[in-house]
Amino acid sequence: MGKVILSCSGSGGTGKTTFAVNISAAAAKQGLSVLLLDLNMGRRNADIYLGMEDRILFDLGDVVSGLCRLDKAIISHDLCPGLSLLSCPQYREIEGISAGHVNALYRTLRSRFDLVVVDCPVSVTGILRVFASGADAALMLTVPDFSAVRNAEALCEKLEEIGIKEIYYAINRIDRQYTDSNNVPGINFITRSINAPLVGMVSEDPLIHIANNSGIPVAFADGSDIARRFADIASRITA
Ligand SMILES: Nc1ncnc2c1ncn2[C@@H]1O[C@H](COP(=O)(O)OP(=O)(O)OP(=O)(O)O)[C@@H](O)[C@H]1O
Ligand SMILES: [Mg+2]
Repeated sequence: MGKVILSCSGSGGTGKTTFAVNISAAAAKQGLSVLLLDLNMGRRNADIYLGMEDRILFDLGDVVSGLCRLDKAIISHDLCPGLSLLSCPQYREIEGISAGHVNALYRTLRSRFDLVVVDCPVSVTGILRVFASGADAALMLTVPDFSAVRNAEALCEKLEEIGIKEIYYAINRIDRQYTDSNNVPGINFITRSINAPLVGMVSEDPLIHIANNSGIPVAFADGSDIARRFADIASRITA
């Protein structure tokens, strides 16, 4: 049975999509069959970070409305066949999706993939709460900002309340120039604040920003330090 992991955070722009894409890519390179499920309804962008935006004909909204079968909406990556993407609609919310749909979807995906990484929007309300509560684990992203750390703590508590037992976090966009000078929360402050295991730290790095825009995940850059970092995180959360 596959494992469903949320890539989530209490604040916008912390790296949820960057991590969802690169952890999925790293896990697929490690031999797992991986599905990235983009739940940013009306604001999806995992397809851009994966360089797959021109290949999406159908999305989860089309599956829910009965326009196509699930198979038609799942597309595999050209450079890495073990990595697949299921997008949500680009310009609208999915209407008429129920808890029954979510549970049936997760059942099918768990039977077909070793790992399902869910790229979440910031808000975990409404139907997203149903998607979240059906997951097995959550990777909480934070950046070295007091506001992001506080919001991550709050979302960890909320996820515990809705029954997610396995919650870990990663710190993204670390710039030692600031974290070491106490102008922004340091690593020690963050690790004391968030009551979950730390599974990885990623620096502020223009290569990540460029990779997201070029559609070739940094996790594909064999032998690079950044690729190794994402590979380590993927190994820790799938162990
Ligand atoms: N470690 C990093 N170094 C440099 N740029 C980064 C890093 N992580 C993410 N970014 C950039 O920061 C921006 C936000 O990243 P991303 O889209 O992954 O965040 P998000 O949490 O998914 O945002 P949203 O809340 O809008 O969904 C993007 O432009 C991305 O390229
Ligand atoms: Mg995002």
